[in-house]
Amino acid sequence: MGDPGLLRISEPVRAFDSPELRELLTDMRDTMAAHDGAGLAAPQIGVPLRVVIFGTGAPNPRYPDAEAVPETVLINPELKPIGEIREQDWEGCLSVPGMRGIVPRYAELHYRGVDELGRPIDRHVSGFHARVVQHEVDHLDGILYPMRITDFSRFGFIEELFPGQDIVDE
Ligand code: NI
Repeated sequence: MGDPGLLRISEPVRAFDSPELRELLTDMRDTMAAHDGAGLAAPQIGVPLRVVIFGTGAPNPRYPDAEAVPETVLINPELKPIGEIREQDWEGCLSVPGMRGIVPRYAELHYRGVDELGRPIDRHVSGFHARVVQHEVDHLDGILYPMRITDFSRFGFIEELFPGQDIVDE
């Protein structure tokens, strides 16, 4: 956080199944795995393209209570909220290490995009899955989760917010 690269509007991907895109996704997967992230957006590793990855295979030590989200590569995403209901829940971000905040997000949404081969993705999701997608796609528009916080009394350092819970975050 503070890097101007995280505040840019990223560009759509136009070429699929390319060596450059494969290399980017390898770098993103390695970065996400190294930090036990639930998701990562290309601008977080300095690449201003509309590419996000997310998913929680096995229980994630950063989000032990979260429901499973399928491992997904989502490129050129479009989100459409369903209804007006927003839920408040905790978020963290690999670009804001050591911190958590309560962030309002649409409870339910429809999202579309393509995978790394250009194949269409079209999903209707809710709960943690919907939250993760909104967080990651925000990165493509230069928005970090602290910019969405409305109640700053619930934003802070993990060890202060959750003393003794031993939450992994590097
Ligand atoms: Ni993030």
